[in-house]
Amino acid sequence: HAPQPCTLVIFGGGGDLTRRKLLPAIYNQALDGELPANFAVLGLAIEAMDDNQYRDFARKGIEEFSRQPLDPAYWKDFGRCLHYLHGSFDNPDVYVQLAQRLTEIEANFSIPGNRVFYLAIPPALIETCVCQLKAAGLVMPVDEHSPFSRIIVEKPIGRDLESARKVNATLSKNFHEQQIYRIDHYLGKETVQNILAMRFGNAIFEPLWNSKHIDHVQITVAEQEGVGTRAGYYDSAGALRDMIQNHILQLLTLIAMEPPWIMNADVIRDHRQDILNCLRPITPENFDHHVVRAQYGPGFHHGEDVPGYRREAGVAQDSITETYIALKLFIDNWRWAGVPFYIRTGKRMPKRASEIAIQFKSVPPILFNANHDQPLEPNVLALSIQPNEGLSLRIATKLPGAKLKIFPVKMDFRYGSTFGEQSPEAYERLLLDVMAGDATLFMRRDAVESSWAWVDNILNVWASSRTRWIPEYAAGTWGPLEADRLIESDNRKWRML
Ligand code: BG6
Repeated sequence: HAPQPCTLVIFGGGGDLTRRKLLPAIYNQALDGELPANFAVLGLAIEAMDDNQYRDFARKGIEEFSRQPLDPAYWKDFGRCLHYLHGSFDNPDVYVQLAQRLTEIEANFSIPGNRVFYLAIPPALIETCVCQLKAAGLVMPVDEHSPFSRIIVEKPIGRDLESARKVNATLSKNFHEQQIYRIDHYLGKETVQNILAMRFGNAIFEPLWNSKHIDHVQITVAEQEGVGTRAGYYDSAGALRDMIQNHILQLLTLIAMEPPWIMNADVIRDHRQDILNCLRPITPENFDHHVVRAQYGPGFHHGEDVPGYRREAGVAQDSITETYIALKLFIDNWRWAGVPFYIRTGKRMPKRASEIAIQFKSVPPILFNANHDQPLEPNVLALSIQPNEGLSLRIATKLPGAKLKIFPVKMDFRYGSTFGEQSPEAYERLLLDVMAGDATLFMRRDAVESSWAWVDNILNVWASSRTRWIPEYAAGTWGPLEADRLIESDNRKWRML
């Protein structure tokens, strides 16, 4: 799979995602020599700009957000591949102009008509863009001998199962599933891809990777930031829709899936899908033991006072949108029968820290403890997703000295110290995969819909409750007491991060 020559058309080419993530990702790939030799970008948005102004816009974004500093000499060459077209997405004439610009660009850059359409736009505009692209004849049929048309769709794909199905139906009416790349940037993170390498590239983990040896799994995605400037979207979404339905359920599938027999997009996605199919539904009867939601109140961030969520700009003053959620879930299959997965994610936590921790069962408390009352600390394999990317294994050792005392130590691997340079950003890898036609790290239609079906059970319970109350946690703390109770009532504890 090598990235193929193509033009990347970015709908929303003047927006925040493009400036902060997409253009810096493309620049870094270019600098690293990863992009195909014949490549161009065409940004499309409502703002009036010409190509030169767009290059300035891109340059500023790259200077601010790129992993590697902007190299002025290289920029001269690179800047030439950036183009811009302004117009409204619902105007059919814009698509006629788009077709013309593409033909010109393809002639100038010797690109054989391959096109990737990136929808970096609000969800309400997806249908318009997709239908207009098709109507303008810009979607080629899937045929290995003719140029390709591929479309990348950002989350959120719907806000529940029904609306997600509608988005998927619109996509499927206009593009073949093979042409659709639903992006989940967590799957592009280096540490997330390492889950498969670690599980299936080592002989020592897989034999223990089941309910016989694993006590429980914890997944934490903690963010230090609050809602920031995104209240318009976030207040009607909340942590369950924003983080669990997509990123965290995808992490879960990688941790829990069966070994695939080949590194092939559909085989891997089938195996991930099996896990989503086995998720035990959360019901109104068991709800309180499985779900805790909460919202941040006033507190501290970097030592400064910060307002509570309801006081943030753009948030309804009586909002009960959750900025934190903790869950206990089960995967009802042979491998994971009875193993709880505890999940928590929230904004305004004390630090940014995401990890997956596999806690193994304790050894019997017989040998090292005369009273048989204090179990040894169990082995824990902790995969740190960010920001200190790495992997550590807690093991018991003998404390030096005359007495036989057991002490837990950590075997630690850090990406930074082992590999030196900074890992590529998620978007870098994912964009290259689309150019190469590799959909392994993208969400297939069935995954999106099964995740929503599972999440809908929780949304329905919340919707049916008339309460306008939600537990609060002070900004800068690890969530509400209710979340501690959720795990402590099983005689377990959240990990200290
Ligand atoms: C996005 C969410 O998908 O992921 C944001 O919409 C969240 O609310 C972000 O902050 C987290 O991504 P990362 O890569 O910073 O962990």
